[in-house]
Amino acid sequence: MSTFHEKVVYQIYPKSFKDSNGDGIGDLKGIIEKIPYLASLGVDMLWINPFFSSPQKDNGYDISNYTEIDPLFGTMEDFEVLVKEAKTNQMEIMLDMVLNHTSIDHEWFQKALTGDKKFQDYYILREPKSDGSHPTNWASKFGGPAWEPFGDTAKEYLHLYDVSQADLNWRNPEVRKEAYKVVNYWLNKGVTGFRFDVINVIGKDAVLSDAIDGVGKSLYTDRPIAHEYIHELNKETFGRKEAIMTVGEMSSTTIENGAAYSNPENEELSMLFSFHHLKVDYLDSEKWSLMPFDFMELKQLLNDWQTGMTEKNGWNALFWNNHDQPRAISRFGDPEHHFYASATLQAQTIHLLRGTPYIYQGEEIGMTNPGFSELADYVDIETHNAYTELIEKGLSSNEAMAIIKEKSRDNSRTPMQWSNELNAGFTTGQPWLKVAENYPQINVEEEQATGKILSYYKKLIQLRKEMKVISEGNYRGILLEHPSVYAYVREFDGTQLLVLNHFYGESVSLEIPEEFSNQQSRYLIGNGEKRELTPTFVLEPYETVAFYFNAENNG
Ligand code: NOJ
Repeated sequence: MSTFHEKVVYQIYPKSFKDSNGDGIGDLKGIIEKIPYLASLGVDMLWINPFFSSPQKDNGYDISNYTEIDPLFGTMEDFEVLVKEAKTNQMEIMLDMVLNHTSIDHEWFQKALTGDKKFQDYYILREPKSDGSHPTNWASKFGGPAWEPFGDTAKEYLHLYDVSQADLNWRNPEVRKEAYKVVNYWLNKGVTGFRFDVINVIGKDAVLSDAIDGVGKSLYTDRPIAHEYIHELNKETFGRKEAIMTVGEMSSTTIENGAAYSNPENEELSMLFSFHHLKVDYLDSEKWSLMPFDFMELKQLLNDWQTGMTEKNGWNALFWNNHDQPRAISRFGDPEHHFYASATLQAQTIHLLRGTPYIYQGEEIGMTNPGFSELADYVDIETHNAYTELIEKGLSSNEAMAIIKEKSRDNSRTPMQWSNELNAGFTTGQPWLKVAENYPQINVEEEQATGKILSYYKKLIQLRKEMKVISEGNYRGILLEHPSVYAYVREFDGTQLLVLNHFYGESVSLEIPEEFSNQQSRYLIGNGEKRELTPTFVLEPYETVAFYFNAENNG
C-alpha cells in the first residue's frame, strides 16, 4: 500500500465545483458526476471543503452542525455514494474539520446564550476590562476586534475569525471529547483523510493578556498545549486506524513547530500547510497591498522549509493554490504571454519537492484570477471587510478595488470551468459567484482536446508513484544566489534528480555545478524542448526541467 509520500491530493471547493440541480451552487452529486474526470488525473485523495450545516457566513467554515450535510450540498446518502464511488475509482476522501470555532448558530452557542453554564464553558467568554474596553486588544483575522458582546450578559466571546465564528474552549475536556466524536463519526463513514482548519490556534492560555503589537497572534499560535491537544486528538480518533492521512492548516507557524506537528515520532499529524511562501507579495507583511512578488524571498522560504523539514523529519504539504489564495498563475506567472509554461513551471516546482502535493480545482487547466472590477461581484466576507477598512484608511474606491482584484479569496472560488457552454458548464442556473470571462478559452474540454497542462499534471502525478527519489528522496537547494532560477536536488539511494525552475519571462543562461555537468544524466521531464544537460545551460521563459542521475551509470 502506498504511503502519503506517494500520494497526490486534489482539493474540491464544493460550492464552485459542479452544480447538479441548477440552483447555482455546486453540490455532492456534482462531485459524483465528475469522478471519472478526477480518476483520470491519477490523484489519490479528494479533499472537500466543508459541506456541513452552516449559515454560510464564511462559506461553510462557520459550522452549525458537524454531522449533518447542509441541504445546499445534498444529503447523507449522496455523501455515502460519493465515498463509495471514489473508492471504486481508487480515490479516498479527506474532510475538512473546523474544530477551532463553531458558528454562533450552533446549538452549543445558542444554549450558552440562554444561560446554560455547561455550554458557556464551551466558548471563551471574558469580562471586558474595568475601563469598558475589550477583554484583550487582540484583532480578528477578518478585521476589527476579536471580541463581541455575548448576548445581554456582561461578557464578550472570542472570535479570531468572523463574529459569526465563536472560538471553542479547548481547555474544557468536554469540548475536546465532542471534537473527537465528530472526527470518529466521519471515520466511521469511511473517510480516510482529514484537513484540520487553523489547528495550531486551538490552545489558548487560561489567562489571556494584551498583545504588545495589538494583534495577538503570538499569544495564541503554536502554544505548547496545542501540540498536546493534537496528540490527544490523534490518540482518540484517527491514530486508532491504519493509514489515515491528516494535514494541519497552520496559521503563521514556524519550521520548528511544523516539524514537531508532522514528525511521526510525536504522533500528531501527517503533514502541514504553512503559508509563508504565499506572503511574498505582501508589502510590509500586509496582505491588502500591492507589490510584485519577491522571488528571492520565495526561493529562500521554500528552501528553508524543505531543508528544515528534511533535517527534522517533518513533512510538508506542497501547494500554491487553495480556496483562500488568489490564483498562483496570475500571481507568480504570466498567463497572458506564457500560459502553458508558467502553469507547468509552477506545477513541476512543487510536485518534485519533498512532501505531498495538493492540486486546487482548476489549477490543472490553468485557471486564472477573474479580474472582477465591481465590489458587488465579490461575495467573500473577508473581502468586504477589507474593502471597508481600506476606504477607512483613506484609499479611493479605485485604489481599494485594485487591491481587492489581486488579493480577494474569491479569485480562486469562481466556478470550475468545464466547457465553453453557458456558465462554463458549471450550472444551468445563476452561479453564486460569477464565472471568469476567459472560460471559452480556458476550460476542461478545451484543455483535453488541445491543451498540454492537464497531461503535464498527469505525468507529474505518475512520476511520484514511480520514482522513490521523488517520494522519498532528501532535498538540497543549489544555486541559491541565482536571481531568477530556483534549482534543487533530490537524492535517494544513489540516484539524484536535478530540477531547474525558471520564474521569469526572459531566457537565462546557467552554469551547472560540475558535480552534475560531469555526470551522465537522463532528461526526465520538462516543459521545453527535450535536450541534454550541458555545463552552460539556457533556460527559456518559465522553463522547468528535471534530469535524472543514477550512480550505477556513472561508475
Ligand atoms: C481557514 C480556511 O481555509 C478559511 O477559508 C476560513 O475562513 C478560516 N480558516 C476560518 O475557518
